[in-house]
Amino acid sequence: MDWGAIDRYAKSLIKEAGHRIRVSFAGKIQIETKADANDLVTDIDREIEQFFISRIRRDFPGHRILGEEGFGDDVSSGEGVVWILDPIDGTMNFIHQRRNFAISLGIFADGVGMLGYIYDVMADDFYHAYRGEGAYRNDERLPVLEPVTVDKAVIGVNASWVAPNRYIDHEAVGRLVSDCRGTRSYGSAAIELAHVAAGRLDAYLSMRLAPWDIAGGSVIIREVGAISTNLRGEDLDMISNDTFIAARQGLHQSILDQYIRLKQT
Ligand code: IPD
Ligand code: CA
Ligand code: CA
Repeated sequence: MDWGAIDRYAKSLIKEAGHRIRVSFAGKIQIETKADANDLVTDIDREIEQFFISRIRRDFPGHRILGEEGFGDDVSSGEGVVWILDPIDGTMNFIHQRRNFAISLGIFADGVGMLGYIYDVMADDFYHAYRGEGAYRNDERLPVLEPVTVDKAVIGVNASWVAPNRYIDHEAVGRLVSDCRGTRSYGSAAIELAHVAAGRLDAYLSMRLAPWDIAGGSVIIREVGAISTNLRGEDLDMISNDTFIAARQGLHQSILDQYIRLKQT
């Protein structure tokens, strides 16, 4: 497999998709809801996913695609080469803020993350990594992260998880919020992972993410020595929805041991 060629191809596809998204702001965006009133999707999410899928199917007919909007393949195993795509991660930001959303793409071979991309479209910040070759923000190589303790850590966590919820003991998450240096929430899992990779967040956690939210980011953060697992500390299968944490070495285990009390769901 010529991963260098796939890498160049994926980068140019993502840049073109980013351009299409920016241009879309000139027209009227159609907004619909999915699972509930706050689960939003637009015609642009769908158009961008279809754009990726038509190109990938044309140029890599043997590869499979797992995309959030459902135009890809029905992927139930990690076999072969799988492109895991979120055409717009942070759709609520896309609609309400017209910024702080990203294209997220991970390319996996037999379940192993080979290439990862997060494109913060409006900031024009492109995070990318090729397994074993380091992670980059645009042309700048991201340094390997130093360890940090909870009291000095800035943690990405959504306020939903410190309110009563069905997934986790929210009081334990509240203790984490009190014990760490500060918390942030950006409304795009992919952008939060880019922040972990770049050392702006020391950890990011969520109770329910899908493979397309984290596929690109998990490849990128690994290259700077960070770890991503579910909140039981297990590897992610990149097929099903799961709990999620990405953090620097050491901090990852401290958070799991001291602050994570999952409920049986
Ligand atoms: C969502 C964003 C958000 C996260 C949600 C995701 P979407 O993705 O990443 O930050 O909290 O769980 O579903 O729907 O905007 O692609
Ligand atoms: Ca998403
Ligand atoms: Ca999305």
